[in-house]
Amino acid sequence: MAIELELPGDKSLAHRYLIFDYLSGSRSTLSNLPKGKDVVNTKSCLESIRKQEPILDCGNSGTTARHLCGILTGIKGNWTLTGDQSLQSRPMDRIIDPLIGAGAQIDTVTKKLPLKISGTPLNPFNYELPVASAQVKSTLLMAGLIHKIPVKLTGKIQSRDHTEIFIKDQGLNIEISNKEILLDDTLKNLKPFEVTIPGDPSSAAFLIIKRILTPGDDLVLKNLLLNPTRTYYLKILKEMGCSIRFENQRNQLGEKVGDVLIQYRDLSELKNLSEISMASLFIDEIPALSLLITQLSGDCVIKQVQELEVKESNRITELHRMYKDFGIQKNLEYQNGDMKIFGDQSLQPKGFESVDHRLQMTAALLDPENIKDSIKVSYPEFEDHIALLNS
Ligand code: S3P
Repeated sequence: MAIELELPGDKSLAHRYLIFDYLSGSRSTLSNLPKGKDVVNTKSCLESIRKQEPILDCGNSGTTARHLCGILTGIKGNWTLTGDQSLQSRPMDRIIDPLIGAGAQIDTVTKKLPLKISGTPLNPFNYELPVASAQVKSTLLMAGLIHKIPVKLTGKIQSRDHTEIFIKDQGLNIEISNKEILLDDTLKNLKPFEVTIPGDPSSAAFLIIKRILTPGDDLVLKNLLLNPTRTYYLKILKEMGCSIRFENQRNQLGEKVGDVLIQYRDLSELKNLSEISMASLFIDEIPALSLLITQLSGDCVIKQVQELEVKESNRITELHRMYKDFGIQKNLEYQNGDMKIFGDQSLQPKGFESVDHRLQMTAALLDPENIKDSIKVSYPEFEDHIALLNS
């Protein structure tokens, strides 16, 4: 018998599709929208924009804040973009600098939320991305769409690519290569669209790693988003020896979608890779992946993970704290942006608590009673789904 599950829609796609719906006149049909607070915040902020309510609260969601900052530069009015305490401490200079460089009016002393934004015309711009961040890349492309101006992006453009894929699928002129993205044909408008959002591969990572860690029935995740910039962790897991198979692959609005089958294998048959790079392609999966690494033989260095320092929490120090709480003998080492995790460790899971949803879900993989409210921003169904794998 296999456990078959269909997961809530992918958050990255949901944020973007809601914004594209707004840009195309709010007549699209989106199904399987995730119920987590982050996406609900994007939805309610867009509602506020439609009603000309000037204060937008993004809660805990960096994707909402950054994308909407790009959008608001193109809507007449004076807007205030804010969020919860964690979001107010996160860097916004990465989007503010290029937008102001193109002529946007964004008022901020600290380059953090709250931001005061006035909608004004923007000039066409070229920008060399200094960090591999999909949020920055998408924000700038969305600014290009709303202002109907050409935008050329170079530098660190290798990160999740949903925005580019959607724009191309809609027939707008966008050229995408390894070195640059050029959005040019900005006279055409986006059209309303209809989509059932495929399951979230970043939520799936917790269930998949749970199945890898604990024996039980095969797990089948139906209709999962299989975009390679999101499933890089599955490639890593396969290289470690995990049994993972893709089935029924197809294309939907330019995105790969399909089913994934995961079978438990004895942990002694799996082995850590000594080095993993391309962190921008599995940045959200690093906490759960690193917990698995502690349970396999061999040590592993994950290269250039500095971006973990500026997520919903500093995920390096939070992971360190979690391992300490779990009584791990040899804690992770972090040097020059590289994180070394030691294998073959025994640990004693106990009540670790974090404001960061991904850290809390990681802890719950080996400490199943430990489910806290912070999980609700992203994956409210986590408790029920993980329980299926515990039994
Ligand atoms: C996201 C991009 C990533 C990721 C976040 C969602 C997106 O952030 O960590 O959970 O939807 O674009 P960065 O772009 O800041 O790396």
